[in-house]
Amino acid sequence: MSTPPAPDPARQRAEALRLEIAGHNHRYYQDAAPTITDQEYDALYRELADLEAAHPDLLTPDSPTQRVGGAPLEEFTQIRHRVPMLSLDNTYSEEEVVEFYRRVQKSLPGREVPVIIEPKVDGVAVSLFYEKGALQYAATRGDGVQGDDITQNARTIKTIPRRLHGDGVPDELEVRGEVYLPKSGFSKLNESRAAEGKPLFANPRNAAAGSLKQLDPAIVARRPLAFVAHSFGLMEGGGATLHSQSEMFALLTKCGLRISEKLWTAADAEGILRAIRELDAVRHGFEYETDGAVVKVDGFAQRQRLGLTSKSPRWAMAYKYAAERAETKLLDIQIQIGRTGVLTPVAILEPVPVSGTTVARATLHNAEEIARKDIRVGDTVAIEKAGEIIPAVVLVRTDLRDGSERVFHMPTACPSCGGPVEQDPDGVAIRCQNIACPAQVRRRLQHFASRGAMDIEGLGEAMVEQLVGKGLVGSIPDIYGLQAAPLALLERMGEKSAANLVAGIAASKDRPLWKLLFGLGILHLGASGARALVAQFKTMDGILTAPLDQIERARDIGKVVGLSVHEFFTNPANLESLARLRAAGLNFGERDPAPVRAAGGLPLADTRWVITGTLSQPREEIAELIQEKGGKVSGSLSNKTSYLLAGEEAGSKLAKAQTLGVRVLTEADFRALLGGSVPPPEAPAAGKKTPPPAEMELPLDEQG
Ligand code: IVH
Repeated sequence: MSTPPAPDPARQRAEALRLEIAGHNHRYYQDAAPTITDQEYDALYRELADLEAAHPDLLTPDSPTQRVGGAPLEEFTQIRHRVPMLSLDNTYSEEEVVEFYRRVQKSLPGREVPVIIEPKVDGVAVSLFYEKGALQYAATRGDGVQGDDITQNARTIKTIPRRLHGDGVPDELEVRGEVYLPKSGFSKLNESRAAEGKPLFANPRNAAAGSLKQLDPAIVARRPLAFVAHSFGLMEGGGATLHSQSEMFALLTKCGLRISEKLWTAADAEGILRAIRELDAVRHGFEYETDGAVVKVDGFAQRQRLGLTSKSPRWAMAYKYAAERAETKLLDIQIQIGRTGVLTPVAILEPVPVSGTTVARATLHNAEEIARKDIRVGDTVAIEKAGEIIPAVVLVRTDLRDGSERVFHMPTACPSCGGPVEQDPDGVAIRCQNIACPAQVRRRLQHFASRGAMDIEGLGEAMVEQLVGKGLVGSIPDIYGLQAAPLALLERMGEKSAANLVAGIAASKDRPLWKLLFGLGILHLGASGARALVAQFKTMDGILTAPLDQIERARDIGKVVGLSVHEFFTNPANLESLARLRAAGLNFGERDPAPVRAAGGLPLADTRWVITGTLSQPREEIAELIQEKGGKVSGSLSNKTSYLLAGEEAGSKLAKAQTLGVRVLTEADFRALLGGSVPPPEAPAAGKKTPPPAEMELPLDEQG
């Protein structure tokens, strides 16, 4: 269905909104100094999205609403870099940095060589190609000559401008830099992955790389990735001619790109070393990880004279900081079982101090990782705090082996229940297939009772351990049959704490339905997915009886989660558990307070709707959807109507809407309006350290 061209006032308003939102994005992301609240930002954003939905001809590719690209890709196509992406010579030795600088000085006349010293950002190298200021494509480094076309994913990153503004932008420009996941975003991402039973990322770099490799840009859009520029490839044409990296940085910043917040300059060896040490002292406060300092000759004429080797420029060198590392003995490899049955190998170490804490355990992630690093029980291994957060085994001292070391094999049966294990078809995770496995049961109960889920006071890890160990609880519904008298006989319990626990359990019966859903530990269903299900289906029965295609189409759900939810609710054992929970009096949605039901907010508040024509769902259902989001639905058009939702064969209402100037939406527009908006920006993550989340399945037993 086509809509008439937008009237001029709408066009002007959309342009003004685009500019205004771009300005707010800049202040929020580049300057970390927003001037409006998130709610005000959301209102502007929504107004623009509405305008674009009503007048599709107003939609421009560089609109801030177009951050999320189209459909998932089958695979990435390859892009040839205009200028190859080289690497950097690197060293861990200060002396070699001094030698590098002397060599550079010798090769240049005059020997005045100003250099610039920057953080070496530990992210994923990406090249952005701008033509006349407009982003044409984004590519990974690949083999240096060609890389993956990740344009769709890059468009979801707010710090990658679609358009470079201002004077002096070269006609053709390859901007190079690093895409990274801020440290705080990394903790959050792993927290939700743990909650959804997915394998955790080892460090922010892997998480950023894994995110960019996603074929579905909608997933990428939900990860708070960011970009920092540090160099360029091709640079041709345009106004000003640039003479140095410093000038280049000034220009990039002016056009809307972000560069490192800290840079140093020096013109002698001592100055370079001083800068390197200063950077080391402050780099842990940056929101991205750094693993070194890059020393670059500033002037382009001098760079030209120095030239390149086939691998790297002669005008730059990376100095890498030694990660805090310690050696210790690997005493054993144990298997930890997560609540979704994933088997994670864990290194049991002779306790050793690293970066101020004592490390006695470290994750080995999975069998592939162990094989790749050839880690054997009895080895002397080097431990590092990867990403400053999680201790990891980085290498094996094979030179210290005496032949007594034992090759490790992942168990072929679950070490907790002896049940069968299977490799996930789509990944490296190995899972225990027995849902009654006691280790899984303990984990599931812990998750159910945890703060993010049913928040049952008094039912922490140790209590769950006791209850399962004593056979008092074997499943979630058993919790609601617990009586005070037998509880009072447990270790470190008495009548008072038993009564408190029973009261805590009773109080949890009134938790909102989404908390119960999340607490059930359905594979892939996180807290936000649970909220989305409740927003759509309102009650447990609504969800239970929903056909698969409706679940998949619910906002934030999609095929993988949808299928998992559907499977969960068709499994007879789960249905029986639900029946017991219902009998125990848990809130299945009927006691949800109204604002919680509409957990997605009320994006359609104060809008009036008329529905006409044939749609993919009965009109009543569509009307319910609108009402649930705060909109009003009526049968006849008036000048108070905000939108006409027009299906196939819309008839006379369509013509009337057009004469009244009422915005007309197709069903696709409508769905996009309901589900397609980019989540509001998250709070800036400026170098704040977040402790490992409570629900992570990783063992982090450090006594510090
Ligand atoms: S300059 C010719 N500056 O480190 C190389 N690279 O090990 C131009 N990197 O491929 C790169 N921070 O991806 C440069 N401030 C920085 C950097 C940086 C990180 C990455 C870059 C490069 C790799 C080389």
